[in-house]
Amino acid sequence: MPKAKYQLISDLIRRRIASGELRAGDRLLPQRAFSEQHGVTLGTVSRAYNELIREGVLEATIGRGTFVRSSGCVESPNEGVIDLRVNRPPVRLLVSDLIRSLGEAPDSFGAALTRDEALTLGSAAHRRAAGEWCRERYAYDAARSSLVLCSGAQQGLMAALMACTRPGDTVLTEKVTYVGVMIAARALGLNVVGVAMDEEGMCPIALSQCVRDTNARVLVCTPTFHSPTSITMPLARRQAIIALAQRHDLTLLEDDAYGALAMPAMPSLFSLARERTLLFTSFSKTLAPGIRAGMLLAPGRLGSVLYRKVRAVAWNIDPLSWAVLSHWLSNGTAQRAIEDNRKVLIERGHIARQVLEGCEFRTDEGCPHLWLTLPTGLTVSTVAASLQAEGVHIQPANDFSVDESYDPGAIRISLGAPSNIATLRKGLLIIRRKLMSPNRYERLIV
Ligand SMILES: Cc1ncc(COP(=O)(O)O)c(C=O)c1O
Repeated sequence: MPKAKYQLISDLIRRRIASGELRAGDRLLPQRAFSEQHGVTLGTVSRAYNELIREGVLEATIGRGTFVRSSGCVESPNEGVIDLRVNRPPVRLLVSDLIRSLGEAPDSFGAALTRDEALTLGSAAHRRAAGEWCRERYAYDAARSSLVLCSGAQQGLMAALMACTRPGDTVLTEKVTYVGVMIAARALGLNVVGVAMDEEGMCPIALSQCVRDTNARVLVCTPTFHSPTSITMPLARRQAIIALAQRHDLTLLEDDAYGALAMPAMPSLFSLARERTLLFTSFSKTLAPGIRAGMLLAPGRLGSVLYRKVRAVAWNIDPLSWAVLSHWLSNGTAQRAIEDNRKVLIERGHIARQVLEGCEFRTDEGCPHLWLTLPTGLTVSTVAASLQAEGVHIQPANDFSVDESYDPGAIRISLGAPSNIATLRKGLLIIRRKLMSPNRYERLIV
C-alpha cells in the first residue's frame, strides 16, 4: 500500500536525522513554513510532526517550537574529538522504535524484567526468533545442529573456546585480528599463533605450515568483513580453508559479528562444514551496541556442552536485550535497521573513497571499517600520536597483532562511529592531510 503523504514527510525527517543533517537539539521549521516549502497542507505537516513526537523522535515546547530529541546516540564525551576507533553501527533512530515496542508488547517486556529464565537460556519466543534468523542466514537445521543463545559474540567465542580447548593448547587465528580473541585466549591459558594473510584473507599455505609447526587443533577466523583488514574471503578461499581443516582435523570457530552487513551474503564456514564449525554472531555491530544478544551454532553433539559453558560465563543471557531483539526480529524492525545501517555504511564508504583518493586502503561495500596502509617512512605510533594531537583518534594496527612485535604499518578507521557524515568527512580529511602532505616526515617523525 502506498504511504500517506504525512508518512512520507515523517520518513524524510527521519532520514535527515539519520544522515546527521538534523542533529539532537536542532529546531525544525515551523509547521507553516514547512508546508509552504514542501507544497503540502498544514494538516499533513502537523500529522507528520505529531507522529514523530509520539515516537519520541521530536519534542515540542510551547512557544519555542519543535526540536530533534536526543537520539540516545552517545556523542564523543570529549568536545571536538573525532573518534574513529570503535566499530559501532550508525543508526540513530532506534530509540523511538524501542519506545514504541515497549508499548506494543508490554507483557513480553514485563516478563523479561520480572521472570527468571535462567534455567532455559532465553524464553521459547527468543529461541523461535533466533532459530528463524539462523535458518534464513545460515541454513540452520535443528535436526543436525544446535543453537545456543548468548549475550554477544565475545561470550559466544569464550564459550566455544572453553568447549574446544584445554589450558596450554595452541589456537590459530589471522595474523591481525579482533583483540577479544587474544583476551579470551589469555584468560583460558591458551597460546595464540597468527597465520599470515593475503588479499583474500587467511593464507592456506601459511595455515598448513602453522598446523604442522604447532599441532594446533582449533582455528578462529572471521571470513566476512574481517577486522581490522575488512577482507571478505571469497568462496574458493573458504573451501580451501575447510579442505585443510578436514585434512588436519581442525575445529573451526567462525566469528560472524559483521556478516549481516554483507550483501550478497557469502556462505558461512558453518553452512559449508557444519560437522566441524562453531559459528558465533551478535547484533552489537550490525543493529545497536546496546543489544547484548548473540547466537552460537554448532554441531548437534556440542549443544549441551556449549549451553553449560555459556552458563558458566554469565549464568543467564541478557533478558531485556533478548526481549527487544526477538520482538524486532519478529516484526521486521531488526532487519530494517540492519539494512539502514548497511546503506549508511555504503554511503560512508563512498565518502571515504573520495576523501582518501591517492592513499592506499581497502574496504568493502557495507563494511563498517577501513584499513589504511601508511606510506613508507611513517610509523603507526607517530601517525596515531600526530592525529590525536589534532583530535582524531584511530586504532593503530599493532593493537590487532597477535604477535605484539609485528607492525603491519596500517591503521583501522571505523566508518560507523562518527554520529554524522560531516564529522566523518572532517576526520578523514585530517588523516589525508597528514598522510599526503609533502612535509609529513618533518611533522610526523620525531
Ligand atoms: C570481529 C569481532 N568479533 C566479535 C566481537 C564482539 O562482539 P560482541 O559485542 O557481540 O560481544 C567484536 C567486537 O568488537 C568484533 O569486532
